[in-house]
Amino acid sequence: MPVISFANAKGGAGKTTAALLLATELAHQGFRVTVIDGDPQQWISQWYETSGRVRNIEVISEVTIPSLQCHLREMAATTDYFIIDLAGARDALVTTAISLSDHVMIPVQGSAMDAKGAAQILDLLSFLKEKANLSIPHSVVLTRVTSMVTTRALLTIKGLLAARGVNVLNTPIGERVAFRELFETGGSLRTLDASRVSNLDRARENADAFAREVLRLMPVRTARSAASRLMNLKRDAA
Ligand SMILES: Nc1ncnc2c1ncn2[C@@H]1O[C@H](COP(=O)(O)OP(=O)(O)OP(=O)(O)O)[C@@H](O)[C@H]1O
Ligand SMILES: [Mg+2]
Repeated sequence: MPVISFANAKGGAGKTTAALLLATELAHQGFRVTVIDGDPQQWISQWYETSGRVRNIEVISEVTIPSLQCHLREMAATTDYFIIDLAGARDALVTTAISLSDHVMIPVQGSAMDAKGAAQILDLLSFLKEKANLSIPHSVVLTRVTSMVTTRALLTIKGLLAARGVNVLNTPIGERVAFRELFETGGSLRTLDASRVSNLDRARENADAFAREVLRLMPVRTARSAASRLMNLKRDAA
C-alpha cells in the first residue's frame, strides 16, 4: 500500500487541497484511503468532521513523529493508499514523513516563492539520498493553474525542474471554486451540488485526471485491494 506525501516548505502552495482531491478521487474509485493529517492546521481533519462518514476514507489527526510509523503499521492491512498532508515547513515531522513515503508530491504554483519551497524539499530528498541512501521517487504537480497563467513564470519553473531531472505531472491542478468549496461543505466533488458550484464538471474531470496519473505512477495490484474494489462495485451496482 503506497504512502504518498504532499510537501512544499512554503505555506499555501496547495498541498492540502491536492491531498484531499487525491484522497476523495481514489476513494471514489473504490480504494481504501487513510489520510494522515500532519498539518498542524488540521484542515483535512475538519473536512472529515464536516463530512460525517466518508466511504473508503479514514483520517488520522494529530500525528507526531513517534506515532507516524505506528499509524502506518496499524492501518496497513485495511489501507490501499496512505496520503500524508504536511505543514508548509521543513521540520522533523516533514523529514520523517518523507523518509517513510513511496512517493512525494510537491505542489507548486506559478510563483518564485513556491518554487523556492519546492527546492527545499528537493534538497531534502537529495540529502536523504546522499546521507541515508534513501532514494524516494517524487513529482512536482503544478497547482492553481488558470488559463491566464500559461505564463512565462510557469514555463520558467517547468524548465528549471526539467533541468534538475524532476518529474512534473502532465495534469496540472486548476484554480477551481469547487476545490475550495469542498472544505466548506465536506464530502467529495461527486456529492457537491452542481447547481451551486460553477464548472463542477470541469473540476471533476481535472481531479479524476490527476488521480489517474498518480495511479499510473503507483498502481496497487494486491489481490486484497482488487477484491475489495470488486465488492464496492457490486454494492454500488446493487
Ligand atoms: N486548485 C485550487 N483552486 C482553488 N483554490 C485553491 C486551490 N489550491 C489551493 N487553493 C486555496 O489556496 C489556499 C491554500 O491552499 P492549501 O491550504 O491547499 O495550501 P497548503 O499548501 O496546504 O497550505 P499550508 O502550507 O498552510 O498547509 C486555500 O485557501 C485553498 O482553498
Ligand atoms: Mg495545508
